[in-house]
Amino acid sequence: MTHDVRQGDRSAWSPKIVAFVCNWCTYTGADLAGTSRLKMEPNVRVIKLPCSSRVNPLFIIKAFERGADGVIVSGCHTGDCHYSTGNFHARRRFSILHDLLHFMGVDNDRVTFAWVSASEGNKWQEVVNETTARVKQLGPVAALEEKGGAR
Ligand code: FES
Repeated sequence: MTHDVRQGDRSAWSPKIVAFVCNWCTYTGADLAGTSRLKMEPNVRVIKLPCSSRVNPLFIIKAFERGADGVIVSGCHTGDCHYSTGNFHARRRFSILHDLLHFMGVDNDRVTFAWVSASEGNKWQEVVNETTARVKQLGPVAALEEKGGAR
């Protein structure tokens, strides 16, 4: 049985959130959060990439098209990128993405950009829990849903 959450049945709905994280800092921080058994919402699916600069804005748009209700992008802090300036490029790209998402009808509050180091398991916990709470508040996204896309 499927539930059409756009018709008001939110009782069975739980947001899907995709996290694009860099391998060197945030992934390790997320791993630390897990091994430290920090309590986190179970809504986030992590996709590991070499660097935040590898996150093409189209990945984010595609995630929404394929049924994500929220997206997290996270990498190393300023000055800590293992490829030197990758996160600078990422930050510049994402400031433009905000305008693009707005134009496409996706609320910018559905996208979280955060810098989380390998030792910041607690910060990763906060990012996950706060993003999940915010997206729950916003409800499901339908603006970019692909034809035939799974919900
Ligand atoms: Fe982490 Fe570049 S390696 S942001």
